[in-house]
Amino acid sequence: MAVAVASARSEEGEALYQVIGVDQDTVSGRDRIATLARGQFPFRTIDDSLTEALARCHRQGNLSATTDEGVYTKADIVVMDLPLDIPFQDDYPQLNLDSFKEAFRSVVRRVPKGALILVETTVPPGTCEQVLRPILIKELGIRMLEEDAVHLAHSYERVMPGESYLESITHFWRVYAGITPQAGDSCEEFLSSIIDVERYPLARLASTTASETAKLMENTYRAANIAFIDEWTKFAEVAGIDLYEVIDAIRVRPTHSNIRFPGIGVGGYCLTKDPAFTPAAAKQILNYQELEFPFSHLALQVNQAMPLHAAAKLSKLLGGDVHDKKILLLGISYRQDIGDTRFSPAEKFAQALLNAGAKVKAFDPFLDEWPEMDLQLFAHLPSPASFDAVVFAAPHQQFIELDLLSWFGAARPVVLDTVNVVSKGLRDLCRESGIKVESIGRGDGL
Ligand SMILES: NC(=O)c1ccc[n+]([C@@H]2O[C@H](COP(=O)([O-])OP(=O)(O)OC[C@H]3O[C@@H](n4cnc5c(N)ncnc54)[C@H](O)[C@@H]3O)[C@@H](O)[C@H]2O)c1
Repeated sequence: MAVAVASARSEEGEALYQVIGVDQDTVSGRDRIATLARGQFPFRTIDDSLTEALARCHRQGNLSATTDEGVYTKADIVVMDLPLDIPFQDDYPQLNLDSFKEAFRSVVRRVPKGALILVETTVPPGTCEQVLRPILIKELGIRMLEEDAVHLAHSYERVMPGESYLESITHFWRVYAGITPQAGDSCEEFLSSIIDVERYPLARLASTTASETAKLMENTYRAANIAFIDEWTKFAEVAGIDLYEVIDAIRVRPTHSNIRFPGIGVGGYCLTKDPAFTPAAAKQILNYQELEFPFSHLALQVNQAMPLHAAAKLSKLLGGDVHDKKILLLGISYRQDIGDTRFSPAEKFAQALLNAGAKVKAFDPFLDEWPEMDLQLFAHLPSPASFDAVVFAAPHQQFIELDLLSWFGAARPVVLDTVNVVSKGLRDLCRESGIKVESIGRGDGL
């Protein structure tokens, strides 16, 4: 978002904004700031347009970063992109907005009159109206300012890390709303200056609660769609059919074109936690105690358990016991062609194998280490010779293009493909060469 804003230009080609990123005075916050100060993106990315845009902003000097919250005093616009966690693994996850409220307070106390505060963090429905607005009124009151002296709005990113990382902000539709009509106008003006709104028109909703709900419903729909596939995946495996083939046949119907495929599970910072927000908000913010969200609850539970099915399938492939077996995991990111392990399904998968006595090592072309597992990764694709099993757990392009037979040579570990990177042709060739290959979502030998 910072790069997208710093890249916005006037018709004359002048930079529209001087962007200052603010992060916390922590190891990772300081690291992100230092990397930006060198004109580099803090994460490994395959999106060259992003790294080039960042280098350009760095050369032109309109993008910097700091831990100093004092810079809010100079801001015409503050975009809040902080994390907001919810313990989604709990049976009934509870909201805790304390740190978010504190961060908001810190901004409101400092921003000048007329500033726009744009909340982009995924927040529970009702947050802007019921939680932040009272803070805004109180803090502005202390400063002898009226409520409308600072504009509060909500809009959510649909950013997609990967090859179109930057474009997923600048060339994609946006939903937004303001706490007042003026705040909505301010937000619209800002978004129109960074997004190609001719091709991707903005959608203004009637309230910030509606905009917050749109984000959560969108992600819960996706999470539920993935969860729905779980029972069909298991069915396909026992029925001896190929669920990919079935889904390809269904997806030709325009009404069914986004049905999901089988896989190792859901990961990342958004789809995992977002279904937990609205049930909690209904009770804790909007005070509707009776509302139940059975689909959201089930999606959360099913998606968390999905990697365990893959672990059970690997165990079966290895003769029913993984104890002392050496497993090579290929890909630990939650998504293809990025290096992000937050709530990656590979983690739960690996943990289940370790608990059962297996020895797990991993390689991911986008990562050097696996912080959640305290594991150093191979720097290069290792020889498969010393492993009992090779598991594809993220559909990185490198794995799709891998010449599996040459890489294997005389080695014969079993292969479990959880993310559909081994083609039908290659699976057949492997089997002809005596390599056992199975996939999630397909019956044995398919
Ligand atoms: N990553 C995505 O694809 C994506 C997409 C849509 C929405 N979101 C939402 O955007 C929000 C941020 O997600 P993210 O993936 O960028 O998270 P992140 O953890 O990568 O980045 C958030 C940054 O905010 C910093 N931070 C925390 N508290 C702060 C404070 N008080 N002041 C200044 N900086 C502070 C953190 O140190 C961190 O660097 C979340 O609500 C997420 O759900 C993310």
